[in-house]
Order: sequence, then structure tokens, then C-alpha cells
Amino acid sequence: MREEILNILREKAPQPVSGQDLAHVLGITRTGVWKHIQSLKKMGYQIEAYTKKGYVLTGIPDKLLPEEIGAVLHTAFLGRHICYEEQVQSTNEILKKLAVSGADDGTLCVAEEQTGGKGRLSRGWFSPYGKGLWFSLLLKPSFLPQEAPKMTLLAAVAVVRAIRECCGVNAMIKWPNDVLLEGRKLVGILTEMSAEFGHINYLVVGIGINVCVPRDMVPENLRDSAISIADVAKKPFTRVQLLGRVLDYFEEYYQQVLKEGFQPIFDQWRVYSTTLGRMVKVISPDKTYLGTAVDIDEDGALMVRKEDGTVEKVLAGDVSIRPATGTGKYEFR
Ligand code: BTN
Repeated sequence: MREEILNILREKAPQPVSGQDLAHVLGITRTGVWKHIQSLKKMGYQIEAYTKKGYVLTGIPDKLLPEEIGAVLHTAFLGRHICYEEQVQSTNEILKKLAVSGADDGTLCVAEEQTGGKGRLSRGWFSPYGKGLWFSLLLKPSFLPQEAPKMTLLAAVAVVRAIRECCGVNAMIKWPNDVLLEGRKLVGILTEMSAEFGHINYLVVGIGINVCVPRDMVPENLRDSAISIADVAKKPFTRVQLLGRVLDYFEEYYQQVLKEGFQPIFDQWRVYSTTLGRMVKVISPDKTYLGTAVDIDEDGALMVRKEDGTVEKVLAGDVSIRPATGTGKYEFR
């Protein structure tokens, strides 16, 4: 009911809507309407009440409220169930618990702040209040568990397209799934899986996007390697709009994968890759070496031509890219 009132006010703004009209359309009393208006105000919505005219929506809180996300989404199932929290330890952890208790395919968990955000390779993820998009998606795909790592490539492509469109910046993908802006890390993606032989119970795809983290707030050890969209954005945008576009693209690509497989994702990934054609340092669990990144294969693995001409397939680990305008020294990040 609250959401319906909000949608009517949103549609009519800046015109007022009378309490009587709202009560009539929704089949409740005017006191009922008034109670919902008070609860919307408590959530941070600015609603003015004019005698004899009615209510006008004059301001929306800068929060990732389900009511706001729902108003911008074009998806069929992704983000249609939302778990919103002001503060959590990790949205991935919350969603894994919800998955065990039967949460729906496509459920979104989003938080204003994470106190124990998780990164790849047991690292953390700095997630201050209201400064980014810290969220996770629950998926129950029909493909085999060995396909799951490719979902991070899909997520990276969806995020890059949404960021480019909403913010007018040239975000690029560093293999496998970091999104960089001006060579610095903007987005991290962490996919976790629960599976049995031949069957995925669920995937949790966690995405962290630095939207407007002030530089002096970033931990010192990350300050030179991290960036926020607000540092270079060419267009005004809201976190809700950006999240909505990410989910729209994510669902579009995911539906395509379920029908056609991952090939179209790899093609898109190549378009936005900052890794291919560059000299890289591969840091895999068992060895470290230099080479040129030549392509990704049908597993999403990075193909690296080593200095002796042989090509290695990199499935796990990390790569550092040599800056294009280097000092001549091998500097990687
Ligand atoms: C990386 O190391 O690059 C991956 C970082 C992933 C961070 C996101 S933020 C939302 C979700 N919840 C987490 O705890 N981690 C992911």
C-alpha cells in the first residue's frame, strides 16, 4: 500500500494528490492514507501537505530503498525480491543464508554499508555507508557447476555497460572480472557457489562499485590503486539509477546465456577488455611469469603467450597489467 501511494505521488509530482482521492483509489480511509504518509516521511521521503489540495512528493532519500529500485527496474525476475539493510557484514553472507532458507531465484541483497565486505582471494572490500553500491544476486541456473566462473565475466560486462551508459566514463575490464577506470580499480566481483556433482544449488554474485568514496576515506594502502565513479563522472546519476541499469543488463545477458551459452558474453567481454594485447604478469597459485594476453578461451580462461612463444591457459589466480605508457621498467598493477 505504501509503495502504491508513493507511486501515485511520484507520477503526479509536482501536482498535489488529495488524501480523499488516494483513499478512494486504494480503498482505505483517509486516516489510513495519513499513516502511510507518516511512514514514508520516516523513511526519508519529503512530502508536503497543503490544506484543501493534498500531498506533494518534493524529495526522495538518497538510499537504495526497494521502493526506489523497483521504480527503475525493467527486469522480469532479477531484483524483484529485495533484502535491503542499512548495515550488514557482507551482502554475500546474508544472501547465502537466505538461499538456504529458500529465497527466490533473482533475489537481490543490497546494503548502504558493509562492515566485513569480502573480496577475492580472501581479501576484504572497503564498503563505507552510502558511498557505493554493495550488493549480491542469488541465481539458480540450470547449467553445470563448471560453467559458474563464467558468470563473473557476465557480471563484469553488465556492470561496464551500465556504468558507461549512466555515468559517461570509459570503464574497462581487467581479467577476469575487475572493472577499472583510468587504470585503477572501480568494481570488484565475488561469485560464490553451492553445488553438488553436476548440479548448482545456487550462485551468489556479489558486486561492489565505488560510486563516491572520498579519497581521504579510502584506506591508505588502497588509495593509489582505487577510484570512484564520482572522481571522473561526466554525467549526473544516482546510485539507484545505476543499480537498475546493472540489473537490467545482467538479466538480459543471463537470459541469453541460458538460451545460447556464454559465447556472446565472451564477445562482449573482448570489446571491453583492457587486458588483451597487453603485457601481463601472471600470479597463479603455483608460479609467476610474464607474457602477452592474447585471448580468452571457451572456459573464460586467459591465454597468455610467454616469452618463449608457448601459450599458457590461466584459469585461476591474478594478473597484473603493465601500464601502456611505462617508464621502461616492468611496473605492474
Ligand atoms: C574483489 O576482490 O575484487 C571482489 C570484491 C567483491 C565485493 C562485493 S561488495 C558486495 C558483495 N558482498 C561482499 O562481501 N563482497 C561483494
